[in-house]
Amino acid sequence: MGPINNHPPDETTRKESIMHDSILLEGINEVIGTTHMNAAPMGVILRGGRYTLALFKGSHTAENIIRDGWFVANLIFDPVIYVKSAFGDLPETAFTTETIEGTPMHRLAAAEAWVAFRAEVIAESSEAYSILLTPIKEEVLECQIHPVNRGFNAIIEAAVHGTRYIMNHDPELEWLIRHHLALARKCGGEREKEAAGIVEGFIK
Ligand SMILES: Cc1cc2nc3c(=O)[nH]c(=O)nc-3n(C[C@H](O)[C@H](O)[C@H](O)COP(=O)(O)O)c2cc1C
Repeated sequence: MGPINNHPPDETTRKESIMHDSILLEGINEVIGTTHMNAAPMGVILRGGRYTLALFKGSHTAENIIRDGWFVANLIFDPVIYVKSAFGDLPETAFTTETIEGTPMHRLAAAEAWVAFRAEVIAESSEAYSILLTPIKEEVLECQIHPVNRGFNAIIEAAVHGTRYIMNHDPELEWLIRHHLALARKCGGEREKEAAGIVEGFIK
């Protein structure tokens, strides 16, 4: 792991904690997950020093993780990237390759930071896999400040509900999506407004 941590350890504990710490925080980190030339929003769960993914079956991400055994968490704050990768595909030019421990891995070229993981299935149900993630390398490329914006957060909510809505057309989800799109338009900037239009196009 690289030297950048949220809470740099003192030198006496450094050797051990270097295996566990990353730029991700306790709880669920809503990142853009990249696998072989594919990107999708994914929630990396960090609890008690353990990184996992609850990965629904049927996605390209699931197929790629099972086949290749790696996953990259990309930190990026563009709401348009979240919705485009949630509902469709990003162009090839959105990706760049990092060779880590001899394996070429794809990450977002525009990521402000990224963490690469080895990924293995530790449990499975009829609908989903539980994936254990082991961090192997991370990099912080930019240190931009992102003031809290309800519009950005509302786009994340609308996209989460939207990816479920397109499977079941639940009217309660549609109500939630419309609520969050209104919030995104009220509180967000131009990129949130563009993202809101993209989500709306997918739920029609
Ligand atoms: C913010 C956000 C978080 C998500 N987290 C997960 C997740 O943790 N696990 C999962 O299986 N799907 C998650 N999804 C849904 C996937 O992104 C969605 O199914 C996507 O279409 C999969 O794309 P793919 O086929 O390119 O992998 C999330 C969606 C959003 C918007």
